[in-house]
Amino acid sequence: MTDKLDNYRLRLQNQEYLPIMIGGMGMDISTDHLAVEAARLGGIGHISDALINGVSDRHYGTRFLKNRFEKYKDSIGKNLADRFHEQFDLNELYIACKNVVGGAMDKKQGDQGGIFINIMEKLTMANPKETLRVRLNAALDAGIDGITMSAGLHLGSFAMIEDHPRFRDAKLGVIVSSLRALQLFLKKSGRSNRLPDYVVVEGPLAGGHLGFKIDNWREFDLAEITNEIIDFIKEQNLPIAVIPAGGIFTGADATGFVKTGSAAVQVATRFTVTKESGFPLTTQQRFFRALEEEIEVNLFSPTGYPMRMLVDSPCKHTNIRPNCETLGFILDEKGKCSYIDEYNKMVELHPEGFDRVPNKTCLCTFMRSYGTWTCGHMTYRLKETTNQLADGSYQQLTTAQVFEDYLKGGETHLKPTKAE
Ligand SMILES: Cc1cc2nc3c(=O)[nH]c(=O)nc-3n(C[C@H](O)[C@H](O)[C@H](O)COP(=O)(O)O)c2cc1C
Repeated sequence: MTDKLDNYRLRLQNQEYLPIMIGGMGMDISTDHLAVEAARLGGIGHISDALINGVSDRHYGTRFLKNRFEKYKDSIGKNLADRFHEQFDLNELYIACKNVVGGAMDKKQGDQGGIFINIMEKLTMANPKETLRVRLNAALDAGIDGITMSAGLHLGSFAMIEDHPRFRDAKLGVIVSSLRALQLFLKKSGRSNRLPDYVVVEGPLAGGHLGFKIDNWREFDLAEITNEIIDFIKEQNLPIAVIPAGGIFTGADATGFVKTGSAAVQVATRFTVTKESGFPLTTQQRFFRALEEEIEVNLFSPTGYPMRMLVDSPCKHTNIRPNCETLGFILDEKGKCSYIDEYNKMVELHPEGFDRVPNKTCLCTFMRSYGTWTCGHMTYRLKETTNQLADGSYQQLTTAQVFEDYLKGGETHLKPTKAE
């Protein structure tokens, strides 16, 4: 009998899960519907804290972005390079997180599976430390099952929640792309006397931002990095589950990892085209049609990290004014963002107007409007996983179908029954 993913289970603390974790996809691409469904099926789903004030406004009737705009609208028309004064209201941020996390937890049925939140530490919000502290504590207050600390890993993040009553029972994990990054984190967080329960090892084929350099990501291999980390964890006898991510596309790929010592897999791209994904239908169809040569890694993100996306992502062709009065989630600790700098340069060079800002995008604006078509490298294979319909479009999948394909499928996909 051939081995399959369904023969394995992930154990974190005292809880057992199916070995599938759906990665966080901000803003609101990994919706609470997606996370709730992953948990219902017995796995783990992530919501995301990206632009969380906007997610709260969209689903919970708050007006946090409008309030921010009213407060800072005097900046409009000013050629500001530094927007440090545009601080987020920490109380509003706390309420936004509680709404979004609490809403997802209310929808969860029973104790099965887990709803985790992906907290992006590079969402610096003009005040990296305090906004991170608020997001972490609010998520725990709202009853989240687990927190995955991602991109831009803040080495002091465990210390920010060590006094929280749920610090030890909530599942905590970190995302790294190298053994060195994990070692640094363990060294720094050792003081809190609490190890992460899991480490997600994100390789170079993942979607979203990458933890590799633009000119060398091709030299790295997920299996190699994962094995290095598994060896280290075994050698040190650490009770940390290793969860690889990035380009794990089939049930056979996933089984290959768990067979060789990984505790589960983290996947995302396959779920971008499901009914529960936040991406609009037109974007999902674009993902299905994608060709391998249309998927690139570029430096358009003002965070400075390389990001993978489709070549024709709307975010690459923008001349919009920086929208920080309303959004401003990527402003660094000095109130700066490289999109603002590029935009201001263009205004100086072309006072009569210009079509686009080269090389950088206003990520906040285009994450909010789903105009950043970020995707994993394997997106070009999504068309293999479903049926093409008579009108040429591709049949949308459900999260349950993709889950089952990972659990039971091998190299070939269990395609859904053809829709009429
Ligand atoms: C559309 C999309 C958005 C993503 N957004 C985030 C994010 O906001 N934060 C994050 O840490 N990772 C993000 N990721 C990375 C995923 O969580 C995941 O680790 C990775 O994509 C797994 O590889 P796969 O897509 O090949 O399965 C994103 C991935 C995709 C496809």
